[in-house]
Amino acid sequence: PESLTVLGIESSCDETAVAILRSAGEEKAPEILSSVISSQIAIHRQHGGVVPELASRNHSADLPGIIRTACREAGTAPADIDVFGATGGPGLVAALLVGNSTAKALALAAGRPFVSVNHLEGHLLSPFLKRPGGPVPHLGMVVSGGHTLFVDVRGVGNYRLLGRSLDDAAGEAFDKVGKMLGLPYPGGPEIDRLAAEGDPEAFSFPRALMKEHTANVSFSGLKTAVLYTLPKITKNGDPHGLPRQTLRDLCASFQRAVTDVLIHKALKALRASGHRTLSISGGVSCNRELRSRLKTACDREKVKLVLPDFDLTTDNAAMIAYVTCLKARRGLFHSLDEDVDPNLKL
Ligand code: KG4
Ligand code: ZN
Repeated sequence: PESLTVLGIESSCDETAVAILRSAGEEKAPEILSSVISSQIAIHRQHGGVVPELASRNHSADLPGIIRTACREAGTAPADIDVFGATGGPGLVAALLVGNSTAKALALAAGRPFVSVNHLEGHLLSPFLKRPGGPVPHLGMVVSGGHTLFVDVRGVGNYRLLGRSLDDAAGEAFDKVGKMLGLPYPGGPEIDRLAAEGDPEAFSFPRALMKEHTANVSFSGLKTAVLYTLPKITKNGDPHGLPRQTLRDLCASFQRAVTDVLIHKALKALRASGHRTLSISGGVSCNRELRSRLKTACDREKVKLVLPDFDLTTDNAAMIAYVTCLKARRGLFHSLDEDVDPNLKL
């Protein structure tokens, strides 16, 4: 197979990222020539969450420099790139437009094809990026700040949704509970750290839809339960007066409830799909308790667990370049008038 060098851009939320991959065919894992991520977290943290307008303006200001860095690290120039890809959704519309338009402009100037990538497909297939042979049929669990999905993956582009969150995404629940507890944005990594020294049975929080036969999940009741607990253990609900150990116990009990639900539903979806391989992806797949408990559960069930490396779990452009490459190999390109879609489904 011919060698392909692809450049991918990710700008759907608060990370501006560019990656360049070289693929010598799908039997081998592609080589990551460069993967540059510039996080805007510090900027948005001051506002307690992502401010869409600020995100797009920073993408626009940062992207040219990040492309230059990615090309320098890869030892390539835009003229050496065979295919350009960018996230086309889902995400913040103005943020998507910055990365998408930039990739189109590069493709236009270089006279090369363009691929519009679904961000969720990027997460979904990211656990296979560093493995020879590419994605195999399996059950994929995407747990990010915006989505919680259980997907029957039959092949590249052949997906069947078996379950999703009916309200808050798993990462969103972490971030909202983090905010309630007075932790910096994003709450996920903070809760992960504090929970490690807390008692997961100190508070009893609800696990929703456990008996339901679908793999759908719901985290809004859990979030509300944490909210209602606060006034009972603090002066006027202010989390800043909480003893450190109580804070750790709250985090551990909340995290135990989330991981209980995710693992239970992943096994349910796995049985429904008949697959013997499970992958997890998205920012929440960084979570140490989720990883270790899922590993134990999969060993017990004799299921193969495919985890992405930590650098591929949160938003990055290597996963976008990877999907660009997989689509290009299948001749699936987009025209330059392809629009972005903030609500794009898998
Ligand atoms: O995939 P991602 O970078 O962005 C989206 O596409 O949404 O995921 C970000 C989410 C945030 O909600 C963040 O709190 C969560 O992933 N996250 C974690 C951890 N690291 C990041 N949640 C739990 N434990 C972690 N260690
Ligand atoms: Zn993401």
